[in-house]
Amino acid sequence: MSEIRVAEKVVVFTGAGVSAESGLKTFRDMGGLWNEYAIEDVASPEGWRRNPSAVLSFYNERRQAVLAAQPNAAHRAIASLEAKFDVVVITQNIDDLHERAGSTNVIHVHGEIMKARSSVDPSLIYMLANPTIQLGELCEKGSQLRPDVVWFGEDVRFMEECLGHFSTASRIITVGTSLTVYPAAGLVKKARFSAEKYLVSLEAQKVPYGFRFLRGAAATVVPHVATCWLEGRKPV
Ligand code: APR
Repeated sequence: MSEIRVAEKVVVFTGAGVSAESGLKTFRDMGGLWNEYAIEDVASPEGWRRNPSAVLSFYNERRQAVLAAQPNAAHRAIASLEAKFDVVVITQNIDDLHERAGSTNVIHVHGEIMKARSSVDPSLIYMLANPTIQLGELCEKGSQLRPDVVWFGEDVRFMEECLGHFSTASRIITVGTSLTVYPAAGLVKKARFSAEKYLVSLEAQKVPYGFRFLRGAAATVVPHVATCWLEGRKPV
């Protein structure tokens, strides 16, 4: 009787850097979004109350960029890991490039730009039929629709579930994040000592304990790691 083998769990934890080579802006690099916009104006409940039109415009522009973007080799390599591993993609990104590359288990801890939600009832979430949300577009309870994204000061999603994934994964690759925004950034601390752990980024202010830093562009380094893992080798 052939033995039943349980696929190893792989956690892929991504930030804006994984989508940079798809042409989407990051936040804290040169030319990043937070060099152009003030967080409190476009990504906070206060900014929404003060000027919802400015917030809607900010996300409408980013949504148009997401629609025009294509997944890159990093997204595709991450999706290819599902051939051999039990892969959970935990992303801080609100774009849908992981899904469009073929990843089937993606957790968006900061929400999803392709969805809208009621501004009075967070349980009312709508897939967007159009690329924009306009002032005057209301939910079924008559309140203004807002992007289904998590703003600063709002609760990050699925953290309990993500903590469970990090603490049981045998391999973890963290890609394209400055690890500066909590509580999401704190997830890396839950990784098991015995897990094989990599941080892939252009540069790193801090490398989490036990992680091996692989400096380089996601679309170059991630396919290398994925090929090694699929062939049963350690990346060199
Ligand atoms: N390949 C790999 N890494 C890259 C690339 C690339 N092509 N381009 C940029 N990076 C790296 C940068 O070196 C940086 O470390 O990606 C990281 C991007 O960091 P941030 O811009 O801070 O993005 P992120 O970490 O995802 O931000 C976290 O902050 O504003 C909030 O909600 C927002 O989810 C976001 C959170």
